[in-house]
Amino acid sequence: MCGIVGYLGKKEKKEILLDGLQELEYRGYDSAGIAVIKDRKLNHFKAIGKLKNLREKTRDFSSEGFGISIGHTRWATHGKPTELNAHPHLGQYSYVVHNGIIENYQALKKELQEDGAVFLSQTDTETIVHLFEKYHQTSNDPFDAFQKTIERLEGAYATLLITEAAPDTIFFAKNGSPMLIGFEEEDVYFASSDTPIIGKATEVYYLEDREYGYAKKGEVALFDAQGSKSFQKQTLPTDKAMAQKDGYRFFMEKEIYEQSSVISDTMIGRINDEQIHFDELESDFFDGIDAIKICACGTSYHAALASSYLFERFAKVRCDIEIASEFRYKEPLLDDKTLFITISQSGETADTLEALKMAKRAGLKSLSICNVDNSSIVRESDAAILTRAGIEKGVASTKAFATQAMVLWMLSLYLADKRQMISREQKMIEIDAMRRTPKALIVTEALHGKLHRLSKRYLHGHGFFFIGRDIFYPLALEGALKLKEISYLHAEGYPAGEMKHGPIALADSELFTIALMPKTLHYDKIKSNVEELSARDATILAISPEPFELADDFIQTLQSTHPMLEFFEMMVITQILALEISIRLGNDVDMPRNLAKSVTVE
Ligand code: G6P
Repeated sequence: MCGIVGYLGKKEKKEILLDGLQELEYRGYDSAGIAVIKDRKLNHFKAIGKLKNLREKTRDFSSEGFGISIGHTRWATHGKPTELNAHPHLGQYSYVVHNGIIENYQALKKELQEDGAVFLSQTDTETIVHLFEKYHQTSNDPFDAFQKTIERLEGAYATLLITEAAPDTIFFAKNGSPMLIGFEEEDVYFASSDTPIIGKATEVYYLEDREYGYAKKGEVALFDAQGSKSFQKQTLPTDKAMAQKDGYRFFMEKEIYEQSSVISDTMIGRINDEQIHFDELESDFFDGIDAIKICACGTSYHAALASSYLFERFAKVRCDIEIASEFRYKEPLLDDKTLFITISQSGETADTLEALKMAKRAGLKSLSICNVDNSSIVRESDAAILTRAGIEKGVASTKAFATQAMVLWMLSLYLADKRQMISREQKMIEIDAMRRTPKALIVTEALHGKLHRLSKRYLHGHGFFFIGRDIFYPLALEGALKLKEISYLHAEGYPAGEMKHGPIALADSELFTIALMPKTLHYDKIKSNVEELSARDATILAISPEPFELADDFIQTLQSTHPMLEFFEMMVITQILALEISIRLGNDVDMPRNLAKSVTVE
């Protein structure tokens, strides 16, 4: 979720770093920094906000001649976006940049502080540089110290470290977060993705998890647990626009595929063996709370609606959901035992922000679930949980929704535990299912191929009904919204049991019904609802692990044991269906007409 660039060579380092970071700004833009060692002398600069602030700060600095350099653009996960929390982080004589989350940083930090290390930031990253210097002081061997450091790190990292103790060397390591090395004659580049080095390096090596090593003039060495390795370099692509999308046709497509990995970022450090943890919440945060009200708009509203089933089911707490623009003018009755939750991917939606201000004026405690740290909604709330989806470029939200749903699922369990409403056995079932979510989000070639083929039959008709029950009803709403947003076809989400109270009058062969038929939740009930539609000749696309003979089209899902796993799998299917229909219709998938990513007007 952050961007890293590194460079070793004779060219002007500042420009290479800043240009590279510019390409990665989409990965994070709350602060940025660079560090350069030239002629054994270390220089560093940091600035909060967009990269242009760092450019301004470094205007009079130049760094020609051989040297080493690292840079970083940050997306805050631990600690506010301040200059002290910006990377590179400094020890006594070394600098580090890092992307990922060091899960055991609190234990490491405590240990290092007991040894006398002074921490300047609130970040997990700073532990890396102090750990390195601790080991270096005993061994006096920088590479040995670096090896020992990464052995201690748990969680995800892509990291670069430079030190005055080895002023011509960049140390690197990767596990779980992306990093590659670019080569061009004697020059060596590092980056989180290939865009910063396209046009600069000619060959590239994409680091695998748990690989590490060092680069110095004339030598780049690579290691893994088995020892020294050789590089299998590839030719670097030359098309930048394509590279930004990692080879996908659209950002939305890339973001759908990314869900399987970003959902791990959402969970990292928050699920321990038998417990859900939110560092962001004081242990007494829920004291005195006997109800929850959630306000949101659009996709975030659908995540909220799904969570209301979970809060009531697990935590046995009343949970009401409201569309923010409705809530604002209904003269709502509010009481201060209600926790007011806002959900927003952007953190800037005007209606949601105003609803939050109203609730605060009424004396309610507030919590936001958001993808952008330091956004207006986060700043306005008493506490905030970040969804860690990384920047989402497609206007139609996908990974932001998935990560919201995950945070809310975790929060419902966290609260159930606090209120002692859940057995240990049930808790373990939920945690086990959470851990299996990344797998449920994997898009296989076969699935995508099938949806591509199917999509050609769904380009016309007089409307789509997405139907589901329970948490699959909000998912049906979200599936219909995705289709509307990017295909411009009329689609509605409906509770399956409600079709017979009106909408069934529309049923004929030109009415397309997308039926979400999970096996783990009310299968027989929804099956009857779909049979009613089939009897009226509606065209049915059934999504289910169970073959359904009345379906005109059928997507078979995995035989899951948990409704949320079915939820996430079906979510991906509806997203890709919308994507493929939109592509066939020749629409602009990433920037659909009339829509904006962040709606800051009422
Ligand atoms: C806009 C976006 C939607 C989003 C909604 C709420 O309409 O196009 O994708 O769901 O705003 O945005 P928020 O940032 O508050 O989640």
